[in-house]
Amino acid sequence: MRKTIALLTGGTTGEWVVSVKSAATIAQNIDADLYDVYKIMLNDKGWFYEPADSVKIEIDKNDFSLTLDGRKIKFDGVFIAIHGSPGEDGKLQGYFDMLNIPYTTCDALTSSITMNKGYTKAIVEGIDNLHTAKSVQIFKNGNYDLKQIKHDLKLPYFVKPNSGGSSIGMSKVKHADDLDAAVEKAFLEDNQVLIEEFVSGREFSIGVYNAKSQITVLPTTEVIPANEFFDFEAKYTPGATQEITPGKMNDEEYLRVHQIIKDVYKKLNCRGVVRVDYFLEHDTSNFYFIEINTIPGQTATSFIPQQVAATGITLKQFYTDLMKETLN
Ligand SMILES: Nc1ncnc2c1ncn2[C@@H]1O[C@H](COP(=O)(O)OP(=O)(O)O)[C@@H](O)[C@H]1O
Ligand SMILES: [Mg+2]
Repeated sequence: MRKTIALLTGGTTGEWVVSVKSAATIAQNIDADLYDVYKIMLNDKGWFYEPADSVKIEIDKNDFSLTLDGRKIKFDGVFIAIHGSPGEDGKLQGYFDMLNIPYTTCDALTSSITMNKGYTKAIVEGIDNLHTAKSVQIFKNGNYDLKQIKHDLKLPYFVKPNSGGSSIGMSKVKHADDLDAAVEKAFLEDNQVLIEEFVSGREFSIGVYNAKSQITVLPTTEVIPANEFFDFEAKYTPGATQEITPGKMNDEEYLRVHQIIKDVYKKLNCRGVVRVDYFLEHDTSNFYFIEINTIPGQTATSFIPQQVAATGITLKQFYTDLMKETLN
């Protein structure tokens, strides 16, 4: 029997533009023979279904239902395509848990923890062969001592808002004198800031998902930004970054990275498809965990669709596998 699915998009952050594009890819590729899909827009004004041929209809948040032509529609499951709040940080996950409606993503706890880069690093530390950049997590109005931090961490530093996204508010700091300004800039975006040692290596981003009772690691993507790091401009200016899928890793790196990624997925109790950013350090090839994205982009040019294409399966099959896992 065809299942009724809500495809939830929009969101209340600047990332909503990307979310809309991700939802467009999903809507275009999801199997219409298996799923009856209602795209629902969530934004500051409300939660709406927007039929092509009529006015928008508000969702009843009491039971996440929709009344269309006098008929009440309830959903078998939700495909969450909202990057950032409230789709990636556990809020919607908690809501759907309370209503007992299954959804495609990690649960509320994992979603909220992984929005905090510092807390996430604390959890994945200890996984075999996984390294994290030495760092200090500081709090606005907290008693931090930049002088001490300069003493404890090696230059250059990488400074970022702790729950950041799209590389906003981030800086590479080459001179200790510049740390104060970089910290101030990051605090404009967030109440918590992470000061890390800068990792010098090749950068990758890799997808991983659970379906058909197994964890599958997708082909990795190597990211070669023209800028000094994968900053906002490098991320969103076409051509500013070279993206190579599958990215090159030798046999030993491939096996090691795949094992680490599966361990990360398990340790964080992930569900659905997630994406891990990592470095292989120059000289040592050590794996450095940077962050995990629990609602990775699904726009036509995003890493996950590229990686799925490189495996030879269609996006249609991929989304069916994710949906089946969600609904079973
Ligand atoms: N410790 C680090 N050393 C070197 N580069 C880093 C470090 N942390 C982050 N970066 C660079 O900054 C980019 C954005 O950082 P990331 O933590 O992935 O934030 P976002 O959530 O914005 O993607 C990374 O893709 C990488 O290029
Ligand atoms: Mg990132």
